[in-house]
Amino acid sequence: MRRPRILVTGGAGFIGSNFVRFLRSWRPEYRVVVLDKLTYAGRRENLADIPECERFRFVQGDIADQALVDALFAEERFDFVVNFAAETHVDRSILEAGAFIRTDIWGTWVLLEVVRRRGTGRFLQVSTDEVYGQVLEGSAAESDPLAPRSPYAASKAGADLMALAYHETFGLPILITRGSNTFGPYQHPEKFIPLFITNAIDDQPLPLYGDGRQVRDWIYVADHCAAIDLVLHQGEVGRVYNVGAGNERENIQVARLILRLLSKPESLIRPVADRPAHDRRYSLDTSRLRALGWAPRHPFEEALAETVRWYQDNEAWWRPIKQGEFAEFYRRNYGHRLGG
Ligand code: NAD
Ligand code: DAU
Repeated sequence: MRRPRILVTGGAGFIGSNFVRFLRSWRPEYRVVVLDKLTYAGRRENLADIPECERFRFVQGDIADQALVDALFAEERFDFVVNFAAETHVDRSILEAGAFIRTDIWGTWVLLEVVRRRGTGRFLQVSTDEVYGQVLEGSAAESDPLAPRSPYAASKAGADLMALAYHETFGLPILITRGSNTFGPYQHPEKFIPLFITNAIDDQPLPLYGDGRQVRDWIYVADHCAAIDLVLHQGEVGRVYNVGAGNERENIQVARLILRLLSKPESLIRPVADRPAHDRRYSLDTSRLRALGWAPRHPFEEALAETVRWYQDNEAWWRPIKQGEFAEFYRRNYGHRLGG
């Protein structure tokens, strides 16, 4: 019998690699094909424990490479596609936005075009709550207007609109999830929670932007993966689903929690110049997703403690990442903020 085939783009990154493991556990009958360019953010080692076999194939390649994507679809005839592949870091999009436009918008369009010609079952575009812009009061619903404020968020919004246009114009079976800030194992140490954990382990300053009172709505990566899987299989085609766990916290609260978990002093927190156009607050109305039967299973404080333990136990994973290219990025993004 033919196994259902799923393409996971960006499957060597943070959420993508956790999603591949989720599929291995919960959909063992699936053949999972990962397509990943292995940018600075993607690592083959994130999937090192999964051997190449009938159930798993890894392809290094670019979603914006039309010939490669077309050949892969012709060969595999996918039943599902989940597009995680993206440039994802707001601060990098402020330093240089070109790669975001190329991958997040153009790359998504390449996938949609190939799907239009070759066909597939459901196509899930993994998007972000940042497309709504900052939400100063209440919570964003899926029908709210998009108001992105960073080049990253604008690129993701462009991809959302293109995916929805392909549903309307060509009838493609598109679904979109808009997830909130995610944390857990295998997150690149340039992002807030892993950066603060790994800096604190090394007694380095924690560079807190502005007054640190910005609010993010945190979700543990396993809960985010379960939501994507549910929407992929049971969501209504053509619809958008917000994915958030309702854990709204100020950044300074999260920084203090991390320091407490590591028994480090609060004096490590270093207020630095703010991110330009820093969104003050995100908040999602997730009633549409919850109506499908999803609920988060990981309380924030417990999941954060688990995540801190993972970084303590996996120094061999993150220490090499913080050398080389990362060190150069750190200088560019933080050098002036930390005083040279
Ligand atoms: P990540 O940066 O950890 O991983 C991105 C992956 O995409 C990497 O493996 C990278 O090598 C790959 N990639 C980049 N450009 C590519 C290209 N042109 N072709 C093929 N592969 C390419 O990102 P993440 O945090 O795991 O985010 C995954 C997705 O989820 C993204 O689409 C992001 O916008 C979305 N998202 C992330 C969060 C979050 O808090 N991390 C929240 C909501 C939505
Ligand atoms: O909301 C979903 C989004 O969450 C995803 O779409 C993005 O891919 C993901 O990177 C994340 O974006 P943020 O900009 O919210 O995440 P980041 O980890 O960069 O920052 C989280 C918060 O912490 C934000 O308010 C900025 C602040 N921050 C971040 C860093 C890296 C600091 O105060 N200091 C820092 O050094």
